[in-house]
Parts: sequence; structure tokens; C-alpha cells
Amino acid sequence: MEIVHIPVMKEEVLSFLHPVSDDPVMIDCTTGEGGHTYAMLKAYPELKVIGLDRDSGIQAKAIERMKEFGNRFEPVNCWFNDYLEKAEDNSADMILFDLGISVYHYAESNRGFSFRKDEKLDMRLDLNQRLSAETIVNEYDEKELADLIYQYSEERYSRRIAKRIVEERKKGRITSSAALAEIISQSVPPAYRYARINPATRTFQALRIEVNRELDRITPALKEAVRVVKPGGRIAVITFHSLEDRQVKWFFKRNAEEEKQVKVLTKHPVVAGEEECSLNPPSRSAKLRVAEKTEGKHGKD
Ligand SMILES: C[S@@+](CC[C@H](N)C(=O)[O-])C[C@H]1O[C@@H](n2cnc3c(N)ncnc32)[C@H](O)[C@@H]1O
Repeated sequence: MEIVHIPVMKEEVLSFLHPVSDDPVMIDCTTGEGGHTYAMLKAYPELKVIGLDRDSGIQAKAIERMKEFGNRFEPVNCWFNDYLEKAEDNSADMILFDLGISVYHYAESNRGFSFRKDEKLDMRLDLNQRLSAETIVNEYDEKELADLIYQYSEERYSRRIAKRIVEERKKGRITSSAALAEIISQSVPPAYRYARINPATRTFQALRIEVNRELDRITPALKEAVRVVKPGGRIAVITFHSLEDRQVKWFFKRNAEEEKQVKVLTKHPVVAGEEECSLNPPSRSAKLRVAEKTEGKHGKD
């Protein structure tokens, strides 16, 4: 088994997160291949990690990797917001979110996340759900498509791209990532088509967000995380684009000012250092925000 994902800001995460009780538990909401989980289990011999991931393909890799820790690693296949909703008050010392998808998804999943490959358009993390990128591209109406591309990626050519998709699908269903990337490329002006960033980058991001309802899960999960973490325990969140980061920033800020259940430990987001950015390009857009739960009463009632 080859590990293809390098954990982002691992040292920074380790410096913020530590046990606050004798029987410590961490919830890794986005375990992926388990880069952060592995480092935490190594650092704290008493620690137990509940490792969540909705994707059973990548979760199988984490299970294999974490074998050496025996029952100190407990994998759960679920959406993190669903898990946290049912979790007990004050039951975790720390909660980590490393949002989005992993290098595994682009390189190994075979589900059309990458516009550089010719794969079936899919993009689902939960393989039991019906909605896939293929359904969206072929069945949403033009306005819905344009709106979601704009809303979830701030793509300035969203309307032209949506129009072209609708024209092209009249000739037959669009079923592959390469076919979609070509349609996008043909629908934008040449200067944009040949720019440094591939013209399909934003649209592919938007489709992935829509398929997995990524942005709908963050704030509800953070609300529950505040209830679930122990007083003195911490919630760390790594985001990769402004739509995610905005939610985290405002949630922590509002809670700290109004409900006062957390204090924010990162006045400005922590970003990866120069060396990490050059060694691991995905870390360039990463932002880490951390909040600590204050002492006091925080239960559901
Ligand atoms: C950026 S990767 C995590 C990488 C991991 N920290 C590591 O070092 O290997 C995010 C992972 O979270 C999963 N994921 C994303 N959103 C999720 C959600 N709402 N609920 C559960 N899993 C999710 C993805 O399938 C992916 O494996």
C-alpha cells in the first residue's frame, strides 16, 4: 500500500492539539490516509483516535496503515456532521478537520476528480448515494449549473461553461472527466484556456462540492464539535479555499463573542511555511484555525 497524501501543517497541528485528560480521545473528522492520525497516535501512547471518513476506499488504506496501533484506532464510515450530531457531550480531548479531498482521490480513486485523467465522471465520496457529477452535468438545467459553478468556485465564465455543457449534452451524455474538461476548455476565451491555471480547475471544484454537499456540513459540524469537545480541549480546522475558511472564521468569531463557549487561539490563520509549500504544493492554499473550549456548562440542555 502506497501512501500518496502528505499531511498538511502536521507540525502545527501537533503543536496545537494535545490531550487534556488521562484517557484521551481524538476525533479525526477527515482521516483520509491518516497522516495526522498516525502522527498523533505515535506522539501520545495513551491516545485513542476515532477516525471518520465517508469514503470507504481511502478508509481501507487508513485501517491498514493504523494496524500497528490495534484498538487505539477506531474507524467509522460516516459524514462528520452526522457523527458529531450523535456524539456525547464533552467526550473528546481534540477534534480535527482537514477539509476537502485527498491526493488519493485525484491519483487513485478512479472517480473523475481530476481533469487531467480520462475517468468516469463520478466524484462521490459516498458510493451509495445517487447524485454524482455525471447526474449534475447531464440533468441540471442551465441556470442551476451556471449558479452552482459560480457559487462554489467563483468561476467568472460560469454562464458560458454552463451554456456549452447544455449544448454538448444534446449530442449525447457527457460521461467522462476528459470530455468535460475539453468542453470547458472550448467554452472560455483563448487567454483563459491557456493560462497558468487549467480552465477546468474551478468547475471541477464546484461539481465536487455540490456532489458531496461539502459546504453544508461545516458549520453544523463545528456547532456540534463545540459541544462534543471537553472544556480545555481544542478544535482545529484546515481549509483549502475561501468558501470553507469564511465559515470557520465566522463560526469561531461569533461563538467567541456571543456564546463565549470557545476562545480563538489563531487571531490570524496559520499558513504553511515556505519549505512545506515548495515540498507539498496543496499546502499553499491551506489555512489552519484553532479554538479552545472554555470551562463552563455546554451540554445540549
Ligand atoms: C484532506 S483529506 C484528509 C487527509 C488526512 N488528514 C491525512 O493526513 O491523510 C480529507 C478526507 O476527508 C474525507 N471527507 C471530506 N469531507 C468529509 C465529511 N463531510 N465527512 C466525512 N469525511 C469527509 C475525504 O474523503 C478525505 O479522505
